[in-house]
Amino acid sequence: MGVLSRFYRPALPQLAKKLLPASTLSSVAIRNSSSSPDLKKVLAEKIPVAQKDVAEFRKEYGDTKVGEITVNMMYGGMRGMKGLVTETSVLDAEEGIRFRGYSIPECQELLPKAVGGAEPLPEGLFWLLCTGDIPTEAQVASVSLEWAKRAGVPSHVVTMLNNLPHTVHPMAQLSAAVNLLSSESLFSKAYADGVKKTEYWQYAYEDSMNLIAKLPTIAAIIYRNLYRDGKVAAIEGNLDWSANFVKMLGYDNREFTELMRLYLTIHTDHEGGNVSAHTCHLVGSALSDPYLSFAASMNGLAGPLHGLANQEVLIWLNKVHGEKSTFTDQELKDFVWETLKTGVIPGYGHAVLRKTDPRYMVQREFALKHLPEDSLFKLVAQLYHIVPPVLLEHGKAANPWPNVDAHSGVLLQYYGMTEMNYYTVLFGVSRALGVLSSLIWDRALGLPLERPKSMSTEGLKKLVGAK
Ligand code: MLT
Repeated sequence: MGVLSRFYRPALPQLAKKLLPASTLSSVAIRNSSSSPDLKKVLAEKIPVAQKDVAEFRKEYGDTKVGEITVNMMYGGMRGMKGLVTETSVLDAEEGIRFRGYSIPECQELLPKAVGGAEPLPEGLFWLLCTGDIPTEAQVASVSLEWAKRAGVPSHVVTMLNNLPHTVHPMAQLSAAVNLLSSESLFSKAYADGVKKTEYWQYAYEDSMNLIAKLPTIAAIIYRNLYRDGKVAAIEGNLDWSANFVKMLGYDNREFTELMRLYLTIHTDHEGGNVSAHTCHLVGSALSDPYLSFAASMNGLAGPLHGLANQEVLIWLNKVHGEKSTFTDQELKDFVWETLKTGVIPGYGHAVLRKTDPRYMVQREFALKHLPEDSLFKLVAQLYHIVPPVLLEHGKAANPWPNVDAHSGVLLQYYGMTEMNYYTVLFGVSRALGVLSSLIWDRALGLPLERPKSMSTEGLKKLVGAK
């Protein structure tokens, strides 16, 4: 691309948001206490109220016990241990994720959509995660515009990306680019200038907005450099965040844009204990700026037990699929048992969930609507009936049901995005909305450096009186 100006800014944005009229069904209560289209202003109103509430709560209940810690929890990845406060979303083992109290179907129903679109805009979910309110169309439009305005990427980041060998994994490229972006951090500058602690959140907010705005451009540069001609289309001010991203990736398909709106909405947040959210929170607690905190979080997302799983699912599906397009149930059962001899079924199971992930369901509904005859989707749908009973019979999986990763790759493949190495980058772009809205609240609530106590096996044995 060779852009040598300080900022790579594809085009100047102008506001021309076109959103659906607010006539969508509404059996669920819409909570919105502010009509201001200025997200920072709304946060500035809400934060002192929440600070007071938390201070009063801690004063009265600060020493109240919330659970017990067992030896197994300490060796077992802290499963089930309540140890974090995260305001943006809560995961229920049976029901799945709720964003500020709203389920995925409720978000689909209530969040503003693009003209002619049926899927929620991720901008609306970000507003919800930050404020707890379902935004109006004007509020969502203001976020779209803000992100388009802030999308310029500094030339040193573009130059670095353009000079990377193709052997560097897209997730490593994303992480490196975001680390370099920390040169733009207003938070670290304000900190160095001695800004008051009560104002930290404002700088965390500015950095988060700037980072989210720049991510699609960075992600598109990575994609176009690795798999296409290296050229990235211009940002358009009258397009929403997902539509601009799709355009920069080089796709021109309304249905794919709808899929991206859905994808970028449902992958945002999964409460605070998952690796990417927890990492961002942990690194941010050292007052590392939001760029450094998010880059660290992406290094966690890049792991095969976290965000890379969607790629693994597709590799496994392709192995099953092979040359054939239809299978008997028995053939699939045999294949599942064969896989279990040496490993696990990718995309099935979850550390917290004990039912089918609603993020899987919503992608399944998208597929049923848009690609019911696709042979890979048919295979995924057939496996949905085959795998859980086999896993139950096998007896080792705590949760035999599919998670979000069991479905996403199939949809992306259908629309021509076949480069599965890249899929985790899409997850990362979406996850930014969750972990950064949480980070803003971490600074708003003045959460301290995270520093739990660890023990040696010897010390632990003594503590529990083991012989
Ligand atoms: C996520 O979305 O972060 C994954 O489902 C993993 C998790 O929740 O632990």
